[in-house]
Amino acid sequence: MSGVNEIRSKFLDFFAENGHEIVPSSPLVPRNDPTLMFTNAGMVQFKNVFTGVEKRPYQRATTSQKCVRAGGKHNDLDNVGYTARHHTFFEMLGNFSFGDYFKDRAIELAWNLVTKEFGLPKDKLTATVYIDDDEAFNLWKKIAGLPESRIIRIAGSDNFWQMGDTGPCGPCSEIFYDHGDKIWGGPPGSAEQDGDRFIEIWNLVFMQFEQLEGGVRNPLPKPSIDTGAGLERVAAVLQGKHDNYDIDLFVALIRAISELTGADPQGEQKASLRVIADHLRASSFLISDGVLPSNEGRGYVLRRIMRRAMRHAQLLGAREPLMHRLVWALVREMGQAYPELVRAEKLIEETLRLEETRFRKTLERGLSILDEKSSGLKKGDMFDGDTAFTLYDTYGFPLDLTQDALKSRGISVDQAAFSDAMERQREKARASWSGSGDTASENVWFPLREKLGATEFLGYDTESAEGVVTALVRDGKDADSLKSGESGAIVLNQTPFYAESGGQVGDTGVLSGEGVKFRVTDTQKKAGDLFVHIGTVEQGTLKVGTALQLEVDHSRRSSIRAHHSATHLLHEALRQVLGDHIAQRGSLVAPDRLRFDFVHPKPITAEELARIEDIANEVVLENDEVTTRLMAVDDAREAGARALFGEKYGDEVRVVSMGKQAREQGQNALGWSVELCGGTHVRRTGDIGLISVTGESAVASGVRRIEALTGRHARKHANDTMALAKTAAFELRTSIEDVPARIAALMEERKKLERDLSDARKKLAMGGGASGGNGAAGGVREAGGVKFLARAIEGVETKDLKSLVDDGKKQIGSGVVAIVGVTEDGKAGIVVGVTADLTARFNAVELVRKGSEALGGKGGGGRPDMAQAGGPDGAKANAALSAIEQAMMGA
Ligand code: ALA
Repeated sequence: MSGVNEIRSKFLDFFAENGHEIVPSSPLVPRNDPTLMFTNAGMVQFKNVFTGVEKRPYQRATTSQKCVRAGGKHNDLDNVGYTARHHTFFEMLGNFSFGDYFKDRAIELAWNLVTKEFGLPKDKLTATVYIDDDEAFNLWKKIAGLPESRIIRIAGSDNFWQMGDTGPCGPCSEIFYDHGDKIWGGPPGSAEQDGDRFIEIWNLVFMQFEQLEGGVRNPLPKPSIDTGAGLERVAAVLQGKHDNYDIDLFVALIRAISELTGADPQGEQKASLRVIADHLRASSFLISDGVLPSNEGRGYVLRRIMRRAMRHAQLLGAREPLMHRLVWALVREMGQAYPELVRAEKLIEETLRLEETRFRKTLERGLSILDEKSSGLKKGDMFDGDTAFTLYDTYGFPLDLTQDALKSRGISVDQAAFSDAMERQREKARASWSGSGDTASENVWFPLREKLGATEFLGYDTESAEGVVTALVRDGKDADSLKSGESGAIVLNQTPFYAESGGQVGDTGVLSGEGVKFRVTDTQKKAGDLFVHIGTVEQGTLKVGTALQLEVDHSRRSSIRAHHSATHLLHEALRQVLGDHIAQRGSLVAPDRLRFDFVHPKPITAEELARIEDIANEVVLENDEVTTRLMAVDDAREAGARALFGEKYGDEVRVVSMGKQAREQGQNALGWSVELCGGTHVRRTGDIGLISVTGESAVASGVRRIEALTGRHARKHANDTMALAKTAAFELRTSIEDVPARIAALMEERKKLERDLSDARKKLAMGGGASGGNGAAGGVREAGGVKFLARAIEGVETKDLKSLVDDGKKQIGSGVVAIVGVTEDGKAGIVVGVTADLTARFNAVELVRKGSEALGGKGGGGRPDMAQAGGPDGAKANAALSAIEQAMMGA
């Protein structure tokens, strides 16, 4: 008997041997379809290859594709647990030909695999073909040798496969397996076809057309092949089981659940065990593909699936959260085929634990209300829709959980009343915006938010996706269209564009569709969680409902990621070097720079800055994986996550952690740097490349700012700095290494030269040469009956004047000396000296004040024999000397 893993490998290997490329499963969140909620078939990732829009380096492919059918068009959620073959998550095995082989080879390959490799007996197999597909009919006869009675022509949608309202499509041919007459049912097309005896195991689609909007069907560039075989069904057949839940994979999961809860896999609680096993797969795979529980869109489908399983865990008597304790069993069964499951194991566990812990708080109370309000009801009755809404709104019971809880008793829920109650609540919300005080131009967003719901952000996992225009805004008003050349804002149902928040700037990029192109110059959040793409139409006309390819400017976003992750590393490095008081005050994360403001009382020294930079770069070099978790805000704080003080966070927060050192030393379970953060980050710290701190400054009292660059910006900065160093070395005629010593020597030399120059000037001045005083105020003369030596000298600092005055006093023996020194910047200093024998008559302080006044200054001070002052106007040096002379004559 082959296990599921072996069957999967056999399938892929068989097609690889027959010239097919083994292509990994695409994520459950489709990147290339604007409306599809989850990937629900193997061909989804190849949609554009069939239509010829996209080219791949191969013409044949084979995959084992992860699929979810819950929420959206194909919704199997309600049936899971109660039937043999419904799943929310399943794997679809398929082979594809993109214009290579067609019907004959497809039938031949399928037949060989099923009968030869898998060894299924021919007489257990039946094929169907589209009613008028004689070609396929004859091929089955010829290749498989099936009797005509077991090639059944079927009309209608059962044998015409269509991806959705639009997209590639074509007639199909299905292979059925006969589980034997112990099970009731008849072959397809017969009156008993709805029985469970004949089970479809493989669908071969002969892709020939593309269905366009408005009912037009065009031929594809080349006829192609798309096939899909549910792995769980195939495994059931190969393992001799009739029920998918009896295959080895489910037996192992159900055993793990039963070990933890004591429930008997074949007993009364069988359905609950199956629900949990199925929902564990769907939840885990969705989480590993980036979906996290929320109250909108895909996140809400995930929440519904999780909570449905959690109610069944409660039914099984689990006292503690159960789901997260089952993840290891799933990883053991499926981790090898899907390594993303292994990578996300911790995230899956934490997300499940958090959701179940939270939900349990209201689950019991909700269930008792449900019991109470349904106690008088009997089979066929309807449960009150208002109560169902209260259960939804207050107790977190998704509608389908309430329906599921009542299903076994044959009671349905009054859905119309449920919707009415929901609408009444919206009315209330609407009434509260009008008083919310937002400016008139912002008023357009609230009604849009209410009508459209939150925008689904795909940008944590992808930078390109498809989306549909749900609203257009021009000049602050709702618009139907935006024409070429017009600027405005676009809302889409989903987007990979990050809207500015948490310091990280909004994304830019291009939205394009058939004949239309819109350049996004900024993305902002409005009314809470509406993502608004701002920019200009460059081509065509955009209308509400237009499907667009959304392309974020990839290199800009990469740089933004790097700067954001670097901000986290610098934050932690700052704390380690400067202390625990570091608290974030603001930040800017842009494509070409980052800045980070924080509380710290004094400037950071160059040595501290260098250490901060070194520490952060060590973590870059570790190249450890950056992980993101969803946590309860209190748990996150407890785990040491840094948050912005005073910031309002939701109950659940994204926690970004990086760096392994501390984790390995067990100091902090989550990582070296752990922060609450909704931004986008690098995958591994090595992607940052390099962190270069370029500046440190004050922004307000007690708040410092550091600025830094990463990656190529840091490298450019380093290169520019190096170029400067080279130029400096060249100019200094030395090597780069010797530049500092050379500069120090030059500075020393300059100081010496300045001293020499000053001395020379002094000498020259006192020697009475040409630069001495001139005109009436120059030279030694007589004033008030004593000798008066007056000089005005250029290029001498005030501090040097005193010694000159002393020299002058010695030179004249008895008298008054006054020297004005005019500095390079045109200001003047003045010093007056009076020889000791004359201080009774002349006061140096009074004289210097007279001089200072003439220089436009005030005051002056010193002793009667030596005083000093200054003034702004050096050009008045001679006037100052004259003023002193006058004063002496008057004394
Ligand atoms: N695309 C086909 C299906 O989903 C094979 O059944």
